[in-house]
Amino acid sequence: MAKPRILSGIQPSGALHLGNYFGMMKPSIELQQKGECFYFIADYHSMTSLFDAKQRRQNVLDVALDFLSLGIDPEKTVFFRQSDVPEVTELTWLLSTVTPMGLLERCHSYKDKTARGISPNHALFAYPVLMAADILIYDSNIVPVGQDQKQHLEVTRDIAIKFNQTYGETFVLPDPMIRSDVATVPGTDGQKMSKSYGNTIEIFGSQKPIRKKFMGIVTDSRGPDEPKPDAEKNLALQMYRLIASESEYQEAFEKLRDGKMGYGDLKKTLFQACWDHFEPARKKREELQANLDYVNEILKKGAEKARTIATSVVDRAKSNSGLK
Ligand code: ADP
Ligand code: TRP
Repeated sequence: MAKPRILSGIQPSGALHLGNYFGMMKPSIELQQKGECFYFIADYHSMTSLFDAKQRRQNVLDVALDFLSLGIDPEKTVFFRQSDVPEVTELTWLLSTVTPMGLLERCHSYKDKTARGISPNHALFAYPVLMAADILIYDSNIVPVGQDQKQHLEVTRDIAIKFNQTYGETFVLPDPMIRSDVATVPGTDGQKMSKSYGNTIEIFGSQKPIRKKFMGIVTDSRGPDEPKPDAEKNLALQMYRLIASESEYQEAFEKLRDGKMGYGDLKKTLFQACWDHFEPARKKREELQANLDYVNEILKKGAEKARTIATSVVDRAKSNSGLK
């Protein structure tokens, strides 16, 4: 059987943190073994809530560098910038015409964003239709996303079904792959790690501020020689579990439990493990940063491949709906 086509979009939203890495980047990188991956940087989407051109350019470059340095293989994966395939906006229009208002009015993400004070422009409301076009335009089979995007996948399927019923078989129906097995990474204060909560630990950056963030992880005040039988609840140990081997984790847990280690030492160990884990990616990122022409070339080639498919799917939709 042919490998499934796996597609996902990544918002260009600033410096990556450990939550993004374990929750999204790492699983996306691993999926490269499972199918033909199409990953794009969702710069059109970023226009719904970011209005600073310079910042957008920087964010897009940062995501490209982050993804490539962490393990996207441009030989295997079609990696591109959304706006380099402008046909997606044309398809958005076609899909809009079969999208009932009620479908969009029910979307939680729109309601959540406006509740957080993001001004409700038309594009923010219509965002799920652009997302549907992102997916349908590549005949995607599988779409890996976080739980928060599940409803958008349902909307995508509803729109595709409606179009197919109206104009005959046109779109492949995609299946979501919800990353429910990926744990929510806690931030330094114990809430979900998120930019919105100011509790993040970044992956890339200089050593001193990152180390400071690790040392700032909230712990209780028990000293090194006090037994800590409930150490599993400790935030630093939970983070260590994501990065350490099972035996390293066990060793740290037993030392804490038996009063042979303090939380300060645990945080130092955790910092060092993370710093070492990302050492190769840091090196790669520096190399890429010094060779931006190469990065732009990867995105350009990715867009060319993506565009070939996008054009044929849009042609199919135009032909079936009587535009051609
Ligand atoms: P933030 O909450 O910092 O704004 P985003 O919403 O931009 O992060 O997250 C991008 C992706 O990273 C999401 O799809 C989500 O799956 C993943 N992610 C973000 N924070 C975490 C976390 N703390 N734990 C696990 N996954 C996360
Ligand atoms: N909306 C997604 C998010 O906020 C990003 C995204 C845009 C996407 N288009 C997509 C994800 C298509 C999967 C498929 O994370």
